[in-house]
Amino acid sequence: MPVVEINNIVKRFGSNTVLDDVSLSVDRGEVITVLGRSGSGKSTMLRCINGLEPIQGGSIRVDGVEVNDPACDLRVLRQNVGIVFQSFNLFPHLSVCDNITLAPRIVQRQAREHSRDLARGVLRQVGLEDKLDAFPNSLSGGQKQRVAIARSLAMHPKVMLFDEVTSALDPELTGEVLKVLEGVAAAGMTMILVTHEIGFARRFGSRVVFMHHGKVHEIGPAAETLANPQTAEFAAFLSAVLH
Ligand SMILES: Nc1ncnc2c1ncn2[C@@H]1O[C@H](COP(=O)(O)OP(=O)(O)O)[C@@H](O)[C@H]1O
Ligand SMILES: [Mg+2]
Repeated sequence: MPVVEINNIVKRFGSNTVLDDVSLSVDRGEVITVLGRSGSGKSTMLRCINGLEPIQGGSIRVDGVEVNDPACDLRVLRQNVGIVFQSFNLFPHLSVCDNITLAPRIVQRQAREHSRDLARGVLRQVGLEDKLDAFPNSLSGGQKQRVAIARSLAMHPKVMLFDEVTSALDPELTGEVLKVLEGVAAAGMTMILVTHEIGFARRFGSRVVFMHHGKVHEIGPAAETLANPQTAEFAAFLSAVLH
């Protein structure tokens, strides 16, 4: 069973059709990279997957559960679907440990002592074990993003969505975050990443999706598709990003 199954979804904002008959099926452990120009619907697609946006047509299933069924427990859905944004959205008044354990403590009712171990474990995964008691304002942008990723990992999601998580970072900080994403992928996490990092997509992506005007314009195995785009639009996009 696919972890995420998007079938013919339509998403409109007023009269603006932003996702137009989009389908995508993601298997366990796949790393899907989503490319496309600004405004092509990439962020909206991610927001639909974890139920942040209602859809006007089609269906989305996460781990077999229909996201838009009124009976779908959004709290459970959001435990299963981690999402990390470009802006890290850490709470400035909370320590790194508390930022990471807030949701597990509330949603999964974890005890404080257990949650500190949990935080330590996920911080180890992102190489920041020594920052357990630090506050966000003492961290670099790259470190903040790694904490945001750790916070998402702490929920043990079935799939993680990343929306341009390196776009606000300098190149050297981008590198450290990509390294963490590589580790998360290697650990077997199912991932959908919106990114402009073509190199990452080529090396670590299972498949790439090129979105254009709210449609999946091209999709295929990462390395082959990037080396040999089949549509003029994707070829033009790639040459603009790469040059
Ligand atoms: N909350 C919203 N209300 C109205 N229009 C929106 C909203 N969010 C996104 N859009 C529109 O949807 C389209 C796709 O946006 P988005 O998914 O953010 O694209 P991308 O992430 O590919 O840049 C754009 O035309 C954008 O203006
Ligand atoms: Mg976007």
